[in-house]
Amino acid sequence: MKFSIFAPGTIGNVSSGFDVLGLAVDGLGDTFHFEAADSYSIRVSGRDAADIPLDKAQNAVTIASEAFYRLFGRRAQPFSVHIDRALPMSGGLGSSAASSVAGALAAARFAKAGPCSNLILQAALEAEALIAGPHLDNIAPCFYGGLTLVQDSEALAVYPIPIQLELWIVLITPPIKIKTKDAREVLPPTLTSAQWSKQMAHCTTLAVALARGDAQHLAFGLTDTYAEPARASLIPGFHKAQELAKSAGAYGFSMSGSGPTCFALCPNKTIAESVGRAVLGVFGPKSSLHIVQPRLKGAEVFT
Ligand code: HSE
Repeated sequence: MKFSIFAPGTIGNVSSGFDVLGLAVDGLGDTFHFEAADSYSIRVSGRDAADIPLDKAQNAVTIASEAFYRLFGRRAQPFSVHIDRALPMSGGLGSSAASSVAGALAAARFAKAGPCSNLILQAALEAEALIAGPHLDNIAPCFYGGLTLVQDSEALAVYPIPIQLELWIVLITPPIKIKTKDAREVLPPTLTSAQWSKQMAHCTTLAVALARGDAQHLAFGLTDTYAEPARASLIPGFHKAQELAKSAGAYGFSMSGSGPTCFALCPNKTIAESVGRAVLGVFGPKSSLHIVQPRLKGAEVFT
């Protein structure tokens, strides 16, 4: 048996939705080519290929597939996988989630498991938890597509949120790496009730404004008073880039997941291009820049 899977890049948190909101992006993701084999083998090409572990106990694809077989109660079908990467490693675009989702989906297909979204999510989350941490905000949009809200990561409860207005997304990845696990260490462990209600106001506004297509309230919603202040110093130039992106017409600018990729949401392509030029000027020519739109479809299998 032979097939391929495309797993999209994802923006974790989407600014104020720490660990709960996630958004899939179009035209940027990793492709995985699977073939049944007598033993596992992993080959990697593309972005950051040399840094990806080839040991099956350390690679998210094989960790997730083994977890799926265990949860499904079947003997594992080993495979060879060629991972063709476009997402940066430790880059803030959900590359470990993409590998985790692809590994779990592949195992479900090898096992001819039929519809089993919860098992796929659970297996993918096991791999993500080992590599980045036990959060579902990249896995959910990678698997389902669009904008997703994680209601309960233990119960794997995910609530899709429609996006009712045109959105263009600027993604800029400065040439540094940030491990999610490290970026979680700098977060405040507790909040006052005033801080908590402030963040809830931003996050609720963001979800409602996107679902209603209400551009006027997006800037307020795209304000993160929790993770961003704690993590901004990990990304030199962050505040300058944010200021320029907003002056160029972005609704908001924040870090994607735990960074270093930053994203801006913009009302149209022309504004997105001018935001892109402005932030590239701050982060420098070694950064990578993509202008994309939301992806409404999740990871897909093709032959
Ligand atoms: N919600 C996670 C974090 C996402 O911000 O730590 C990482 O992509």
